[in-house]
Amino acid sequence: MDLIHYIAWFTSVAAITAVLQLVQLPLRRKNKIWIYASGFVIKGLVAVAIAYFSMAICNKLMWNLGYLPVALYAALLCDAASDLGVLLIAPLRKGPKRVMLVSVILTAIFILYGTVNMQIISPKEHTYTSDKIQSTHRFVFLSDLHYCASQSPRTVDKALKEIAANKPEFILLGGDITDERTEADEMREIYEKLGALGIPTYFIYGNHDRQDYGDYLGGAKYTPEELERAIKDNGIKILCDEIETISDDLVILGREDVSKGDMRCSVSELPKIPDGSYVVCVDHSPYQEEEIRSMGADLQLSGHVHAGQLFPLQYVYRFGVNNIYGDYRLGDTELYVSSGITGWYFPFRTEAHCNYEIIKLEPGL
Ligand SMILES: [Fe+2]
Repeated sequence: MDLIHYIAWFTSVAAITAVLQLVQLPLRRKNKIWIYASGFVIKGLVAVAIAYFSMAICNKLMWNLGYLPVALYAALLCDAASDLGVLLIAPLRKGPKRVMLVSVILTAIFILYGTVNMQIISPKEHTYTSDKIQSTHRFVFLSDLHYCASQSPRTVDKALKEIAANKPEFILLGGDITDERTEADEMREIYEKLGALGIPTYFIYGNHDRQDYGDYLGGAKYTPEELERAIKDNGIKILCDEIETISDDLVILGREDVSKGDMRCSVSELPKIPDGSYVVCVDHSPYQEEEIRSMGADLQLSGHVHAGQLFPLQYVYRFGVNNIYGDYRLGDTELYVSSGITGWYFPFRTEAHCNYEIIKLEPGL
C-alpha cells in the first residue's frame, strides 16, 4: 500500500461522488419529499448490497474493479444519509445545493475515518481462567494480515515492534497472512519479518494464504510449496490439523482451513490431546459450530470475518450467520472471533478496528 494506491482510492471516491451528485441534481430541484424518501431507501440498500459483494463474495468481476465498488458504496451510503437528513431536518429542504454540500461533507468524513481507521493497529487484551492452567500464559493471536494490500508496511512494522516489546510466550498466526494480491517477494518479506521477532510462532492456513483464487487475478504469484518453504525457513511452525504441546498444562491445536473440504480432518481424525491439558484451537473460520461443540477445546481463536469491515455489514451478517466478531460460548468452548489486524484489499475500514489479541490464560480460583 503506497502513495499511488491512496491517490487511486481518493480519486475513485471523488469521481464517483461528483457523478452521483450531478446525476441527482435535476431530481433534487423538484424538492419532493417522496424523492428523498425513496432515494434514502434505494441508495441505502444498493450501498449495503455493494458492500456485501465486495466483502463476502469471491468473484472475478468484483476483484478486477479495483476500488470503484467500495468508493460507490461509501458515496451512496453517505448520500442516503443526507436524504435522511432532509427528511428529519426541515431547513435542509430549502435547496438542492445545501443537500449536495451535506452529502459531500458526510462522504469526506466517512472516507477519512475509514482510511485512518485502517492504518491504526491496536492490541486487545483477553483473560481466560481455568482449573487446567497451572501457571499464567501470555501469548499473541494475530489474524488476517492480508499483507500488504490495505496497510502500509510501515504500519505493520510498527505493530510487530510493539508485539515483540510485549514479550509474549508465543505468537499464533490465524491465517490469511497473505492473499491473492500478495507478490512472491512480499510473501517472503512478511515471513522474514515475523521470523525476525525471535518469538516461537505457529501458523495455520486461512482461505487465501495459498492463493487458491489466484485465477481471478491472472494466476497465483507463488506456489503452496514456496509459501510453506518461506514459513518454515523463518522458523515458523505450521500446524495443519496438528497439535503442539506448549507446556504440561497447555496444548495448541491448529486446524486446516475449512475451504479445503476433505483435506481437513474430521473431529475423530484429529490427533489425541493429552488428558488434563488446556486446549487452544486455532481455526481461521469461526462458522463450524458443530465441530467446535464436539471437539471440546477450552478456547477457540478465529478470524476471517474482519467484523464485516464495511458498515453496516457486521449487523447484516448477524441476520444470517453466527460468530461474527467478539466473544461466544459454544458448549464447553469459549470462542473469540477477531476483527483481524488488517482487512480485505481496499484501504478502508468502517466496522470495528484493526486488532491483534493479547491472550492471557490464568489458573482458576
Ligand atoms: Fe479469510
